[in-house]
Amino acid sequence: MVEEELKEYLSLTRNSRRAFEEASRIFPGGVNSAIQFYDPYPIYVTKGEGSKVWDLDGNVYRDFCMAYGAAVAGHRNPAIVEAIRSVAENVGTLLGFPTASAIGLAKEIMRRFPGVEMIRFTNSGTEATMYAVRVARAVTGRKKVIKMEGAYHGAHDYLLISDKPAKYVLMGSASKPASVPDSAGTPEEVAGLTLVARFNDLDSVERLLKENENEVAALITEPVQTNSGLIPPDDGYLRELRRLADYYNVLLIFDEVKTGFNAASGPAYADFGVEPDLVTMGKVVGGGTPLAAFGGRAEYMEEVTPLGRAVHYGTYNANPLSIAAGYAALTKVHNEATFRRRASLSAELGKRLREAVEEAGITAHVMSYGAMGAIYFGLSEQPKDFREAYRADKRAWRRWWLGMISRGVIPYAGAWFEEWFVSAMHEGADVEMYVDAAEEVLKRIKT
Ligand SMILES: Cc1ncc(COP(=O)(O)O)c(C=O)c1O
Repeated sequence: MVEEELKEYLSLTRNSRRAFEEASRIFPGGVNSAIQFYDPYPIYVTKGEGSKVWDLDGNVYRDFCMAYGAAVAGHRNPAIVEAIRSVAENVGTLLGFPTASAIGLAKEIMRRFPGVEMIRFTNSGTEATMYAVRVARAVTGRKKVIKMEGAYHGAHDYLLISDKPAKYVLMGSASKPASVPDSAGTPEEVAGLTLVARFNDLDSVERLLKENENEVAALITEPVQTNSGLIPPDDGYLRELRRLADYYNVLLIFDEVKTGFNAASGPAYADFGVEPDLVTMGKVVGGGTPLAAFGGRAEYMEEVTPLGRAVHYGTYNANPLSIAAGYAALTKVHNEATFRRRASLSAELGKRLREAVEEAGITAHVMSYGAMGAIYFGLSEQPKDFREAYRADKRAWRRWWLGMISRGVIPYAGAWFEEWFVSAMHEGADVEMYVDAAEEVLKRIKT
């Protein structure tokens, strides 16, 4: 019964509850991003350090959410704190003119992202995918885009379609997924331009390309689908997507906002030897500050204003503060050795969780990939797409979520489809804490 976990949670988080009550009179739902809300109310956090965060009640948590994979340098990583301090004291946080420091970070990114010849900085992954789609439309003169069911690419109308349909029946048939707007206020006309395929299902992609020949501007996907748990591509799947995009003259966009530096030491696509035409990146590239980017082949990026006609603006774009934090993150924290260490801790966590699941005698599938991982309650096999992932037991997940938080571990972000992240500042002891808490909670789920 989830009531037990709920009782524990309520008794440990009284100050958060008070903050929530006040915040709710000011912010809808008491939060400034809907994903931060979970029932009955979120913990309100006061600070972070390394792998830990503290809440208003003085509880300390091992954090495996790490701001949805954005803060994986570690909270208050000294290299990033120093970079921010120095730029605030000596440069200024926002100057409104281009700075040469942005060139340095762009080069660091381009060195690691094969096929990226030019980039533009934005402030969020949402903006990055929105502009990438705009560029693809401007380049091709076509309106439609294809995305994968269950994939999240940000909150704009172009792509917030069939991200997390409220009910299974709304998804349409398996052979022809529906384009379901996730948000009220999305015009039908706009939703109709976003066609939905299924990850790892090449037929669903090819059918859309055929039926909409010469109308599709871009095919956007993550190389490893996240926000649906964690779904790796089948062998040869990405290569075949590349072939289909070339055959139908459609731009292939890889969204690396979450997978970049988390699923692999750089972009996940590099591990599969398949290059996109355009790529979006975010989270890690800003070292935990608001920074993201879109980039790709020069022939397409030259379509961006003032060279071309695809408009890209932003008061805060490439602000010196985020650029400095991103540069410190990429040059001082996120190298091959750091990634190997993160990935090995994450693999260890995955292995120990699988053992704990078995020991507790429950059905759950644990997936670890790079420095990330996911748990699907009620599934005994790895799902191949969002529909399969959606069958996961959400009630068991809720017990897990509240039970883990009450034991001082944030197991990942507060939704069944989220992933854990191991940061550069996590250690073996953090994994031990996670496993100890999980052993207790999983046994309870059994009963
Ligand atoms: C794959 C992916 N793309 C885009 C976004 C949007 O990024 P942001 O939250 O910075 O707008 C996210 C956010 O989690 C994401 O996971």
